[in-house]
Amino acid sequence: MAAPAVETIAVLGTGYVGLTTACGLANVGNPVIGYDIDRGKIDRLRAGKPPFHEAGLADRLAANLHAHRLRFTTDLAQAVGEADMLLVTVPTLTRADGQADIGIVQSLVASVAEHVRREPAGRRTASRLIVVKSTVPPGTTDALAATHAEAPIDFAVNPEFLKEGTAVDDFERPDRVIIGVADKPSEDRLRRLYSPFVRNEHPILAVSRTSAEMIKYAANILLAGRISLINELANICKLVGVDVNEVRRGVGYDHRIGFEFLYPGIGFGGSCFPKDLDALIQLASQRGYRAQLLEAIAHVNRDQHVLLVQWAHDRLGDDLAGKTLTIWGLSYKPGTDDIRKAPALEIIDQLLLAGARVRVHDPAANAAVRAVFADKLEYFDDQYDALAGADALLICTEWSPFRRPDFDRMRALLRRPLILDGRNLYEPQLMAEMGFEYHSIGRPSVPPNAERQPRGGE
Ligand SMILES: NC(=O)c1ccc[n+]([C@@H]2O[C@H](COP(=O)([O-])OP(=O)(O)OC[C@H]3O[C@@H](n4cnc5c(N)ncnc54)[C@H](O)[C@@H]3O)[C@@H](O)[C@H]2O)c1
Repeated sequence: MAAPAVETIAVLGTGYVGLTTACGLANVGNPVIGYDIDRGKIDRLRAGKPPFHEAGLADRLAANLHAHRLRFTTDLAQAVGEADMLLVTVPTLTRADGQADIGIVQSLVASVAEHVRREPAGRRTASRLIVVKSTVPPGTTDALAATHAEAPIDFAVNPEFLKEGTAVDDFERPDRVIIGVADKPSEDRLRRLYSPFVRNEHPILAVSRTSAEMIKYAANILLAGRISLINELANICKLVGVDVNEVRRGVGYDHRIGFEFLYPGIGFGGSCFPKDLDALIQLASQRGYRAQLLEAIAHVNRDQHVLLVQWAHDRLGDDLAGKTLTIWGLSYKPGTDDIRKAPALEIIDQLLLAGARVRVHDPAANAAVRAVFADKLEYFDDQYDALAGADALLICTEWSPFRRPDFDRMRALLRRPLILDGRNLYEPQLMAEMGFEYHSIGRPSVPPNAERQPRGGE
């Protein structure tokens, strides 16, 4: 049975992955229907308002709504009835023991299969194609296909590699597209779907469904591993009195190593790396294998989250009652308002526990943090207003406006010129010359007002 020349695509779950995918596919001409159980979100999307911050998304949403290529619904029967291909982009959660919880994916697929089964026979020329884009443990989609073998549905896997902050660009210009398929028609349909995005000769790799699932975990774990490795090296650099940035550059030019994901900081957060790392550790353990290196990646990351808190105690004492600490940057990385597993949340928890008064500023994520901490914190729209009378500034996210701030103004506003920088935004020597006590990751601190030290060879 041949698939129709123009396939209608349903995107099931309109979060970071789903909405970016829906807008990206509509933008190259596909008819797309976005489905979500969150009625408020669907109402906002129909009005052209993206529920989260992502560069380029609002424009694409508006243009494709206007062109009637993109529609939204909370009615699954409608989405299934209209669509030829259904992309599953709902969340995968984590159980208390770290295992992946794929309950939402399973129940959604069961509902889709039920709707398909109830349709009168012979209305369609091709099977429905369900494409799992959610990150699921290896073997999940084969199991779904076996469970729903009676329904006229084919199953495929298409892991998503977009990064929040550059999601639209990543979706539209992928390094590669992975499709996990068990039959040629599904492979052909997915190759057609993605052909507009690989015109720069980047490959579409067809593999088995289980390989595609494993590729997603492997990619996230290799990236997370690089972050924990450079963080551990940074901590050792500080102990031996060298600047990790010099070391990073020294190794990064080696083409076998490169620079990507090799920036020291307070560790990774977000909705993917921590979750996927835990899920693979648990999956390995269930099969009798202890993934020691993966466990170490997670441990180093957890310790790294609270380095700034340890430094605050070192400088200001164990009891932070009566102290005011300001945090710049709350989202788990710049360019997004996503705070899921953001290191800043752990830091805030610990500072509050120690009795500190905490003031926060983020260019995009203040509202999301307010929803968690309510009036336990003070929120500022202006980065400088947040500094008035503070005993220290902690930098948790490397947003652009923090990179070249007005240091004179900062020094005048802070009660104590103490900066604990979790993202290495400034030069330690310059900070010392400007009278700041400045601590950063993996770089020796320079006493304030110190004379500029000549470097070897200068
Ligand atoms: N966020 C990322 O950067 C990223 C990147 C690659 C892969 N992933 C994976 O993609 C999947 C989705 O992640 P996300 O960040 O887009 O999640 P999200 O939480 O931003 O969005 C999920 C959406 O699904 C909706 N939803 C929940 N249950 C539903 C149901 N039963 N039916 C329909 N809609 C439902 C929610 O209302 C929400 O709008 C996860 O498996 C994640 O691991 C995420």
